[in-house]
Amino acid sequence: MKKIIAANWKMNHAFDEVDVWMDGFFKNYSAKYDELQKVEIVLCPPAFLLDYIDSELMDDSFDDLEEIMKRDHKKVEDFSAEELSAIMLEQRPIRLGGQDCHHELAGSFTGDISATMLKKVGCEYVIIGHCERRENHFESSEIVAKKVQAALSQSLTPIICVGESKEVRDESKHLEFVYKQIKDSIPQEANFTKLVIAYEPIWSIGTGKTPTVAEIAEMAKLLGKIFNEKLQNRAQEFFMLYGGSVTSQNAKEILAIDGVSGLLVGKASLDVEEFIKICL
Ligand code: PGA
Repeated sequence: MKKIIAANWKMNHAFDEVDVWMDGFFKNYSAKYDELQKVEIVLCPPAFLLDYIDSELMDDSFDDLEEIMKRDHKKVEDFSAEELSAIMLEQRPIRLGGQDCHHELAGSFTGDISATMLKKVGCEYVIIGHCERRENHFESSEIVAKKVQAALSQSLTPIICVGESKEVRDESKHLEFVYKQIKDSIPQEANFTKLVIAYEPIWSIGTGKTPTVAEIAEMAKLLGKIFNEKLQNRAQEFFMLYGGSVTSQNAKEILAIDGVSGLLVGKASLDVEEFIKICL
């Protein structure tokens, strides 16, 4: 199972920075192709950049498609439109993700973006319930669950964020807090191809502080238990990402923890060289 390394750019970067980032990425991608193939890279830029990045990725996967057709002695007419777009998505070195979606698929919701729109613009993932949304936009776990349902209805893989505050951790109530958050954030009837939970303690986001290996391992154990006991028949695969002050200095150690199957990277993902080091 490939580890997932997801970049959450939050409200950062515009077109010039994207060009620099993508140039750097593709240079590294050709040079370190085999190593980078081993991880699933998910990029979650601000929504207004999705179409732009999608087009760049599309150009790149056209070249790959031509190679495949040459190799297999096939022509474009031999594929259906769905097959072509599936092949091209599969060939991409980067999967695209949204940073949030509304729980309705369309309607009068000024300023929001729907799961349908994300899907149309080339997304395969969407971050849901990030603590900055839970706090700044007052999103409860019940709302998060509805958003997860919307994402699943559009075949997007939700990256569901959970994590305790410093106060909850100090009171040693983090396990029960996260347990409840997960339980309430997952819609009752949902079936997942991939269930991705990002454990992001609020006190570690953007602070340079990270939990100890033992603390992350304890949470990974709890999540694994919830998956096995409660969600067995509702997801084919289960991933726990860790997020919060991940850098190239601590990424390896965190990825080596039993039960950790990826990372959600904020600030350190803005710089492409630093992000690549995290992926390698
Ligand atoms: P950070 O953010 O890596 O800058 O701490 C992580 C996140 O909020 O997802």
